[in-house]
Amino acid sequence: MLKVSERSARPCTAKRYGKHVIAGLVAVTLHLWVPAWATEHIVKLPVSPDTIRRAELVTLVRQDCGSCHGLTLKGGLGPALLPESLKDKPAAYLKSIILYGRPDTAMPPWQRFLSEAEAEWIVFNLQKGFPNER
Ligand code: HEC
Repeated sequence: MLKVSERSARPCTAKRYGKHVIAGLVAVTLHLWVPAWATEHIVKLPVSPDTIRRAELVTLVRQDCGSCHGLTLKGGLGPALLPESLKDKPAAYLKSIILYGRPDTAMPPWQRFLSEAEAEWIVFNLQKGFPNER
């Protein structure tokens, strides 16, 4: 039987290395956990590129198109782009005006800035009531 004084003079291995073992485990855990945490958060970002591009398109239509068609799209230099003015016009015709412009008028072509799908998205939304910028 060891006396109390002898026992404390020879601390067990776990006590001697305990701190280092714990620090090591923490380091390993963080190395595994931090990247996993980061990836999870990147993947779960609430704002997808689609959402960002959609916001850009809304701003483009409200600001750039709005500079000629009116900031509320009620018309200005260009005609109104409201649902009641566009509802009877074929979507394909409106889309081609947006992409290729109207020669000999102030309506410029936008094909350098917009894909076909984006022009279709704009026509669809103009015909149903264009969203506001947030
Ligand atoms: C520099 C001024 C200007 C800008 C900027 C402009 N437009 Fe136009 N737009 C016009 C004019 C002028 C017309 C009428 C052309 C004509 O006389 O046929 C027109 C016509 C149109 C038409 C046909 C409307 C109809 O009832 O037939 C659409 C759709 C249209 N623009 C959408 C857009 C969109 C979308 C944008 C932005 C991406 C845009 N325009 C930017 C001047 C502009």
